[in-house]
Amino acid sequence: MSNKTIYINKPSITDLEISYVNDAITNGWGEKCYDYINKFEKTYSNYIGVKHTLATASCTGAIHIALMALGVKPGDEVIVPELTWIASVEPVLYIRAKPVFVDVQEDTWCIDPKKIKEAITPKTKAIIAVHLYGNMCEMDEIMQIAKEHNLFVLEDAAEAIGSEYKGKKAGSIAHIGTFSFHGTKTLSTGEGGALTTNDTDLYEKSKVFNDHGRNPKDPENKMFWMRNYGYKYKISNLEAAMGLAQVERAEELVKRKREIFYLYKELLNDIPGKINAEQDYVINSCWLPTFVFDKSLNFDRDGFFKYMTSLNINSRPFFYPLTSLPMFEDKPQNVVSYDIYYRAINLPSYHDLTNEDIKLVVDSLKQYLKK
Ligand SMILES: Cc1ncc(COP(=O)(O)O)c(C=O)c1O
Repeated sequence: MSNKTIYINKPSITDLEISYVNDAITNGWGEKCYDYINKFEKTYSNYIGVKHTLATASCTGAIHIALMALGVKPGDEVIVPELTWIASVEPVLYIRAKPVFVDVQEDTWCIDPKKIKEAITPKTKAIIAVHLYGNMCEMDEIMQIAKEHNLFVLEDAAEAIGSEYKGKKAGSIAHIGTFSFHGTKTLSTGEGGALTTNDTDLYEKSKVFNDHGRNPKDPENKMFWMRNYGYKYKISNLEAAMGLAQVERAEELVKRKREIFYLYKELLNDIPGKINAEQDYVINSCWLPTFVFDKSLNFDRDGFFKYMTSLNINSRPFFYPLTSLPMFEDKPQNVVSYDIYYRAINLPSYHDLTNEDIKLVVDSLKQYLKK
């Protein structure tokens, strides 16, 4: 048993984060109250390789703003993956559009382009491609389908900060990308998120939606007047100060996540099952090492979590198929999603986790399988 708790994730905090946040809290007021936000957005755009970043209070908020900017209206259909965190889909419901759940691929656990094609109707407006656990969706195929059917694509890259597909970073490929900087993510601001795009028109619309509908093009002498209502999912200068330090360290943070993943991969090699995919043309930033146990092992997920908790080791279940939740209609036709979730787990991964900690996690997991 570990005499310290091994968490599932936590941020890496160094003197850099502390010094920027200290500066923001001491000096970042008055005319300086947006300085860290501006620097963070600029540095993030450079890192992701996009023209524009809009920092937000959360990824959920960024998705809501993005769907509004894309012009998704009540009654429109938005194609979404069956397996993802609910936050990828909730903003579709906020707009009273209809999420159409499609199955994922067996290897990447990301939305299956073939199933997207089958789900398109005259009402389809957009596709949300979620890069699950750092794994990358098949973006070329998805973008081609979108082009043929005149659809927008939103990349939910909340879990894939730093992942790359054919040399392009997650969140830079589709019309719009979204990110989360929640405390569990590879880069963190405590709570926070971002919307990224190369499309200046979409960026400007997003900014207006994120500022209560206030449009800088409206007459200057009409302060507090606006033609449309909007929302407010803004990040604070304090959070952006932490974000700036984190994005300046992004390569180091992603490098350690990848080292952790590859050690797990090596140590789990003798267990029948599947670990996160990394296609030849992908760099997986390995947010959460995830293992799907082979059916032959009759894996008991609940027993596993109980056992690991008793050893002070946090682990997590794979997401439920969203249509199995009470507020949606069951869709067991999404067979891959319904088949894998119960035998799949996420393992701890954070910068300060030692290689000995990782060995302890895997040894404990193997002990459990022998029971
Ligand atoms: C795939 C995915 N999308 C969206 C979100 C929402 O992020 P946030 O908590 O920043 O709103 C998360 C967060 O865990 C996520 O994993």
